[in-house]
Amino acid sequence: MRMRKKKHGDERRAALSHMLITADALTPGTARSHFADPTRPLMLEIGCGKGDFVIGMAKRHPEWNFLAMERVPDVILCAMEKCHEAFGGTAPDNVIFCIANANALTDFFAPGEIDGIYLNFSDPWPKSGHEKRRLTYGSFLADYRTVMAAGRPLTFKTDNRGLFDYSLLSLEANGWKCEDVTYDLHASRWNAENIVTEYERNFSEKGFSINRVVAYAPAENPAELPKIVMPDTDSVGDDGKTENH
Ligand SMILES: C[S@@+](CC[C@H](N)C(=O)[O-])C[C@H]1O[C@@H](n2cnc3c(N)ncnc32)[C@H](O)[C@@H]1O
Repeated sequence: MRMRKKKHGDERRAALSHMLITADALTPGTARSHFADPTRPLMLEIGCGKGDFVIGMAKRHPEWNFLAMERVPDVILCAMEKCHEAFGGTAPDNVIFCIANANALTDFFAPGEIDGIYLNFSDPWPKSGHEKRRLTYGSFLADYRTVMAAGRPLTFKTDNRGLFDYSLLSLEANGWKCEDVTYDLHASRWNAENIVTEYERNFSEKGFSINRVVAYAPAENPAELPKIVMPDTDSVGDDGKTENH
């Protein structure tokens, strides 16, 4: 996510440090200890952006803990400030933000430590040469499977049809069971329970329909990463964005 540098970012993050951990604090088996009630199920959002989704989920599910991971410190600051305000100027006891890159999840979590993962409007990386950077590439799925138990859900939504089609192929080739697939979430029976993210609001206002899948982790990871064959969509930039991202 592109963002102008925040003024006094370090001081503002420090003021909300009770809601924030850095990657160093995440070692396998410790994530739950950062929450008031470590016995609750632990959900992970990867790339939380400015936080609308995790704030909505935390309000709806006070019985779950949410770890909102984001690699850009100024973006996470925005999410934290919004969250603090949304909970009346206090920190909810079921949300922790974490500045970290999700490309090292098995360094952060023990096998089976996470109960569910959310990917919302992940960067599409449309060039075929950048396939490995997509958050639904086989190596990421293998890490998700390792940090979650078999049968745990990965929920993925995006406006980007190319990324969605790729992701369905990748999930299925890696043994995940895809359910509740929709190519128009807002017109679907699941819309009433949907929590809209910042990107989702923006793209749907521009007329893009929203794709969504809930995929369940396989019994085990495949021995080798399967090859996914997709049409080349090299028409746009090499920074992970398409014309609408
Ligand atoms: C396109 S934005 C979507 C933001 C938000 N989820 C939404 O739907 O509005 C993708 C976000 O994911 C973050 N991100 C991308 N790759 C990441 C990674 N490997 N680890 C952590 N965050 C990542 C980016 O910094 C960006 O804020």
